[in-house]
Amino acid sequence: MSLNVKENEPLSKHTNFRIGGPARWFVEARSEADVREAITFAKEQRVSYCVIGGGSNVLVSDEGFSGVVIQMAMRGVHVQRDFSPVEQDATSGRAGSASGGKVAGNTLVVAEAGALSTAVARQTADVGLQGLEWAVSLPGTIGGAVRGNAGCFGGEMKDSVVSVRVLRDGDIVEIGKDEAGFSYRESAFKHSNDIILSVTLALHPGDRGTLRQKLDETLAKRKASQPHYGGSAGCLFKNHDATDEELQRLARELDVLPYEMSASRRIPAGWLIDKLGLKGTRIGDAEISQEHGNFVVNLGKATASDVVQIIALVKTKSRDQFGIQLQEEVQYLGFSH
Ligand code: EPU
Repeated sequence: MSLNVKENEPLSKHTNFRIGGPARWFVEARSEADVREAITFAKEQRVSYCVIGGGSNVLVSDEGFSGVVIQMAMRGVHVQRDFSPVEQDATSGRAGSASGGKVAGNTLVVAEAGALSTAVARQTADVGLQGLEWAVSLPGTIGGAVRGNAGCFGGEMKDSVVSVRVLRDGDIVEIGKDEAGFSYRESAFKHSNDIILSVTLALHPGDRGTLRQKLDETLAKRKASQPHYGGSAGCLFKNHDATDEELQRLARELDVLPYEMSASRRIPAGWLIDKLGLKGTRIGDAEISQEHGNFVVNLGKATASDVVQIIALVKTKSRDQFGIQLQEEVQYLGFSH
């Protein structure tokens, strides 16, 4: 077989947390053929498989994964400048042709799932396309970003997605934006077995100098507000959409609730964890960052078990003190539920 399969590969080498036991089998998929072969291999071995991108938003158990881990490593980014214009179907929001062209004056870019979000942001800005500057500070791959509808600094993946090409039960299926079920940190892909192969994005023309400046500003903002030491999985919890009752309780407990939170009704998990006085809390080598409450950093030898205990502590305190049930943004891998 041409497929490069590694045995007992430590997943700590492939996660930004630098945590995780071994994958029984590990495949770096450099083509769609590799993905298909890896699935066939898993079936032959009678084990399950799972897909990871950059490993930036995943917590892998200390036991690892007993099947095949397929890491998406197809990193091509293609700007489809030369295609003739394709009108957007206003009723479905889908491009008339998902394969290329222009949608309502925008240029389409097709990025393979394993392309790093940072690289897609840079490459598109370099050719004078705007819309993804925020993503220069996004860890991980574009496929992972679409799956989690990742966002930061005012941008969100769904704002640029036209369609997503997936492998579904051995068939290639093109899924339009409206079918993708995007909402805050959510998509239909999180709840299906579809494997994202590539993503078609619509971007606008922009001035290269201004775009470069925006990339720099975004990176500076990230550096100023989020930890850049130790391993981490980005924000551990989703921000919380609060009910009237929850907002009233928070205002009561804390005397004052910042206007932007009562207006948006969205409570940043980092702010909540800060208010709980949990920053700096350490279990083993896992620590709630002093810089940002929604980051847990691996100070060196943290285990998944350390992080799970921190997650449990935060959720319990938040529920007990504010009646708010936080939900993890981080994805679990290799845990039996
Ligand atoms: N805050 C505190 N203390 C803290 C952390 C935050 O008071 O320890 C306050 C901040 O001062 C601010 C508010 O909480 O008033 C919101 O904080 P921030 O601007 O840092 O944004 P966030 O809501 O915590 C979100 C995304 C990040 C993204 C940033 C920047 C989520 C869960 N997080 O964080 O995304 O980078 O906005 O746009 O939606 C990620 O998803 O992994 C992630 C890091």
